Amino acid sequence: MDIQWFPGHMTKTRRQMAEDIRQVDLAVEIIDARIPISSRNPDLDELTAGKPRLIVLNRADQADPDMNRAWGAYFRGRGHSVLETDAKSGAGVKQFPAAVKTMMREKLKYYAQRGQTGRPLRAMVVGIPNVGKSTFINKVAGRKSAKAENRPGVTRCKQWVNVGSGLELLDTPGILWPKFEDQRIGMHLAYTGAIRDEIIDREELASSLMALLAEHYPETVEARYKLDLSQPAEGWQLLEQAGRKRGFLISGGEADLERMARVLLEEYRSGKLGRMTLERPEELGGQDGEGA
Ligand code: G4P
Repeated sequence: MDIQWFPGHMTKTRRQMAEDIRQVDLAVEIIDARIPISSRNPDLDELTAGKPRLIVLNRADQADPDMNRAWGAYFRGRGHSVLETDAKSGAGVKQFPAAVKTMMREKLKYYAQRGQTGRPLRAMVVGIPNVGKSTFINKVAGRKSAKAENRPGVTRCKQWVNVGSGLELLDTPGILWPKFEDQRIGMHLAYTGAIRDEIIDREELASSLMALLAEHYPETVEARYKLDLSQPAEGWQLLEQAGRKRGFLISGGEADLERMARVLLEEYRSGKLGRMTLERPEELGGQDGEGA
């Protein structure tokens, strides 16, 4: 993460969010569609104080389309509204105002009954770093502004952006912390590049990513790295075989694991491997997944 989270940051952010959230009708939670479990903040339920929530499965262009559908169904089943977007290209973003209107129809009806037709709905974007919050807000607002200050606790004048169709968006997102105490979540954030890999052993990271990809997308992995997955193998063994196939060798004829690790991580992150989702709803078992 770009951000160093300290308890003080979290307390300040929490307090700020609690204030901001009072002013909005709904929260827009942006998550990374490749890692819908790890890119969520564990305390969001409490922080949003029961406001209706639209979950934006952003980076949908980088995630597996079947998994996008599965996750959409999963979150809808838990009472949230869902929108799939690629904030970078803008795909899906145009549907945002309509999605909000649909999910807020009861409130709009209530306004109308009280003679307040035209009263705008207010929304606030929240999410952990790197999920695409700034890109999303800029696309929705139709502007090319600089990235929002990606530091917790940085206060600046907040403004409402009128995004049309009777909807206003807070121009700065609420930046939340991921669930870092869970090592597996940390690894998944690192696979996608949300956490810089210098802080984790790169070969270990790439080995476990290779194992995960081989489990979920065996055909793609076999084809791209010329591997034979018919025999059980550990992630590092697969990494080694892939390195050999690519001719990445060090003196003594051993595979250059470090080089292959870099290549695998780069190829996954840049999408060269294709659209892949690293987490599935089944992993949450019977839990409702909220705050997981
Ligand atoms: P944040 O505010 O939540 O921290 O995220 P931000 O919008 O800064 O986005 C982080 C990076 O992710 C940006 O790339 C952005 O372009 C990219 N991104 C955001 N949404 C999407 C999406 O839906 N699909 C894809 N493919 N990428 C997305 P960057 O590396 O910082 O810059 P650049 O690559 O745009 O030059």
